[in-house]
Amino acid sequence: MDSRRHREIISYFHDTIGDGKQRVLLLGATGETGGSILRALLEDPDSFDVEALVRPASKDKPQVKALADRGIKTHLADIEGPIDGLVDILAGVDVLISAIDAMSQLAQIKLVTAAKEAGVKRFVPCAFTTVAPAGGVMMLRDTKEEVYQHIRKLYLPYTVIDVGYWYQLSFPTLPSGRVDYACMLKPKVEIHNGGSMPNIVTDERDIGSFVALIIKDPRTLNKYVVAYGDVLSENEIFEIMEELSGEKIERKFVSLSLPTRSRLHAQKNAAVLKADPNNRLARIGVFREDYHYSKYVRGDNTPKYATYLGYFDARALYPDFKPKEFRAFARELLDGKIEQPYKDRVFA
Ligand SMILES: NC(=O)c1ccc[n+]([C@@H]2O[C@H](COP(=O)([O-])OP(=O)(O)OC[C@H]3O[C@@H](n4cnc5c(N)ncnc54)[C@H](OP(=O)(O)O)[C@@H]3O)[C@@H](O)[C@H]2O)c1
Repeated sequence: MDSRRHREIISYFHDTIGDGKQRVLLLGATGETGGSILRALLEDPDSFDVEALVRPASKDKPQVKALADRGIKTHLADIEGPIDGLVDILAGVDVLISAIDAMSQLAQIKLVTAAKEAGVKRFVPCAFTTVAPAGGVMMLRDTKEEVYQHIRKLYLPYTVIDVGYWYQLSFPTLPSGRVDYACMLKPKVEIHNGGSMPNIVTDERDIGSFVALIIKDPRTLNKYVVAYGDVLSENEIFEIMEELSGEKIERKFVSLSLPTRSRLHAQKNAAVLKADPNNRLARIGVFREDYHYSKYVRGDNTPKYATYLGYFDARALYPDFKPKEFRAFARELLDGKIEQPYKDRVFA
């Protein structure tokens, strides 16, 4: 980059964010994605002052108390309650990041309105998912889109960050049971639609590091950014696991009728949801089949398609940051060093 262009960017950055540290308010600090973001922001105290936004119902949770024990200022607020209290909390916040769970996306709507009213300089809404188009491919993506549209209607500065699928949810289990300790649903040996479709995948632990880089960067304001560690097909992931473990995985092929099957499943669950919007099981069913359809049938979750959709590529923006490759993650997994996602969670 030439130095004039660099000076322009820095000056724009200072106009937008200010000179000093960024005051960041994080919603979801006790969650998986939010936990990764929190870790990374706390590792860079010269750049960030981090505070947490917590719902009143969770104030006595040990995870929330742990935040206070780490010296993190927490604000209690019902994000679906009256807007005035939210505006007060958001006043003076430079960057608001939401890492709310997949089921609760629309709870962000009032937060967007409050962020605009409070003059928040950048809102990072809860994206953090695979690359997919809005408009009937994935219900989860469409729900996120409702939030993005509300942001754009209000002219609120934003950055959408997607990360592909977590390594932690992408590896197959082994016949020995050696990696079962880190796997949420076992056995996991399904190969979808032939297994050759490439997919963006990322170590959950790297999400926060990417977020820290992206929110410091004026180039990413009002943009979509895709961040990832690797691009691999299911077949390649299985091969890496076999090579490193020395075990042969008995694959369960989910047939080529997947396009029809996944669409039918999604439609059936969508009908259940229409009658009973709070049916979590049906919603999870739709999400899962939508992911299969988008990732393994349509092939949406790739850097090439992300570029087509207008995303910036974080790998190109930050060539000095080396995210963990899947192969390195797999070695840690085989060494017993990976945490199972949601390990302390009781799902109703
Ligand atoms: N790329 C992937 O492979 C992948 C995998 C999973 C999820 N995701 C995406 O990542 C995003 C975050 O999901 P996650 O699974 O990381 O979340 P999570 O672990 O379930 O955590 C959700 C967080 O949001 C907080 N929260 C929920 N409702 C709230 C409310 N009304 N007010 C304040 N805080 C609230 C929770 O706080 P409490 O302590 O109060 O519960 C918790 O800290 C989702 O949008 C999902 O689409 C992506």
